[in-house]
Amino acid sequence: MGDLNSRAIGVFDSGIGGLTVVRALMERLPFENIVYFGDTARVPYGIKSVETINRYALQITKFLIKKEVKLLIVACNTMAAVAFEAIKGVSPVPVLEVIGAGAAAAAARTKNKTIGVIGTPATVNSNAYARAIHRIDREVRVFSRACPLFVPLVEEGWLDHAATRLAALEYLRPVLAEGIDTLVLGCTHYPLLRPLIADIVGASVSLIDSAEAMAEIAAGLIVREKLGNPSETPPAYHFFVSDVPYRFQTIGESFLGRSLPHVEMVKL
Ligand code: DGL
Repeated sequence: MGDLNSRAIGVFDSGIGGLTVVRALMERLPFENIVYFGDTARVPYGIKSVETINRYALQITKFLIKKEVKLLIVACNTMAAVAFEAIKGVSPVPVLEVIGAGAAAAAARTKNKTIGVIGTPATVNSNAYARAIHRIDREVRVFSRACPLFVPLVEEGWLDHAATRLAALEYLRPVLAEGIDTLVLGCTHYPLLRPLIADIVGASVSLIDSAEAMAEIAAGLIVREKLGNPSETPPAYHFFVSDVPYRFQTIGESFLGRSLPHVEMVKL
């Protein structure tokens, strides 16, 4: 095994949310080093234009490539939806993204071929989930709904608050009316709302967590490409952000499910 194997996996996100993907990666690939970048100075991306998101995504890609990562993971659904091709175009290492992962898991799960997708406005407007699902199965019907209030509600820590429940009922009602049996949580923040959403949609609708699906696909690629880190010592985790780290550090711990080690602020 060469030096390449001990290099880190680069994970990037618009801010804090990608920590749900890091959490899934830490659990699925416990010996892999991880370098994370969260663009906390410019979050949220989900309500920005395609052009701006592409420009930011390329800056982050260059930053992580300089960190000599062996693999890039686009944890942010919004960047995956609109900037994946641009990122792939400049990356010398393999790039994985959450939308393909979530789409594949949803297509495998649905029985009645009716899938709901929730995400940010940029993700939903891009139609990226529907395209990815239709590449797998053309017969599946996809109903998408943007839920722009979810990101700030989650960052506020209102995971089981009456206001969040009300918003979720509003957002989910039309999607549920289409008879979906599978719902993709197509945004980094939504796994934190999983208990509340599960309660609203009921047991007949399966929830697909794109973060978990992503970790599974990353694990598969690492085995196939023989990219695994041979070391079995505790891995190194580095977190970089573009704004002062205080908020990232405090809120991040609920996303990561454990305490956050050293977080460093950098300029892109
Ligand atoms: N990370 C974004 C996503 O998964 C949510 C936060 C944002 O809008 O930047 O779509």
